[in-house]
Amino acid sequence: MGELSPLRRSRITGVGHYLPEHIVSNDEISLRVETSDAWITERTGIRQRHFSAPFETTAFMGAAASREALAAAGVEADSVDAIILATATPDQAFPATAVHVQAAIGAKRAFAFDISAACSGFIYALSVADSMIRCGQVSTVLVIGSEVYSRILNFEDRGTCVLFGDGAGAVVLQAKTGGEGAGILSTHLHSDGAFAEILYVDGAVGQRDRPGHLVMNGREVFRQAVTLLSSAVNEALEANGLTAKDIDWLVPHQANRRIIDGVGKKLGLPPERVVVTVDKHANTSAASIPLALYQAVSDGRIKPGQLILLEALGGGLTWGSALLRL
Ligand code: COA
Repeated sequence: MGELSPLRRSRITGVGHYLPEHIVSNDEISLRVETSDAWITERTGIRQRHFSAPFETTAFMGAAASREALAAAGVEADSVDAIILATATPDQAFPATAVHVQAAIGAKRAFAFDISAACSGFIYALSVADSMIRCGQVSTVLVIGSEVYSRILNFEDRGTCVLFGDGAGAVVLQAKTGGEGAGILSTHLHSDGAFAEILYVDGAVGQRDRPGHLVMNGREVFRQAVTLLSSAVNEALEANGLTAKDIDWLVPHQANRRIIDGVGKKLGLPPERVVVTVDKHANTSAASIPLALYQAVSDGRIKPGQLILLEALGGGLTWGSALLRL
């Protein structure tokens, strides 16, 4: 690289997480619905998931993850300019879950709002935060993914209820200039409402008689996922003049081990450079990427200066990618 660019970029300066205390194994879920550890593990790679207790709301978990991310970044809550929380399971129709997080952590100066893009929510939130930072509107943003899918699962549908879990992850995103090319390099977002009926919730928060359950055509989602995610990651690489060889880590949305492996294979990335947490967390929707990022940063696999590619696909369909240098 030549001279340091004075470009204003967004850098992740801290990562945090929260997982509910209650762990539910495949054997335990087999007591509720006709399935088996062997079926779930073979088809999805999932071995366990966390299910929230009543006190572990989307806001509670989002706040806990945020406190940890702020401490890792060495940032005080009252320095936060904005809180963007991605969730498909908000605690209320309104106010936004993000304002409850704001109150819980004491981020008095911030403005706060939610983003709804299902399992792509974290990438969408990161993209919005990055744009706001680049244009100079804000300098420090908490970007959170927090979900309680256990509350929208239909425990009579074994094709879906075994796949999801609860949890939260958060990052602190801060404006930096220079820094040898570190920061978010690009984000790419997509949606196609023509696929709305292959993955959705058949009700809404606040509908007393129809709180809603998750409904999915698993085969069709699977078919779309590998194709759309592969094109999303190639789009990110092309936009930055990079190839898969340049990527240190792929941190994918954690829906299914077979989807993760399929995208890694299409990219030609060895499994050692792909972060996988779906075995322990199952699919935590908008929380899955920051949870995986937290895991690999805290165990020392992901290091400062490395090139990280994030990708996700979810209900909508929505999908997208983010490429960043830590
Ligand atoms: N335990 C045991 N059997 C199950 C089961 C379970 N939990 N869920 C479904 N089955 C059965 C079905 O009833 C069916 O039985 P049948 O052939 O007697 O009718 C059989 O397994 C095959 O079902 P099918 O739905 O075709 O399985 P599949 O191979 O497509 O695998 C998924 C199902 C859900 C694992 C797979 O489609 C998938 O991973 N899709 C992507 C889902 C996803 O990641 N969504 C989130 C994206 S954000």
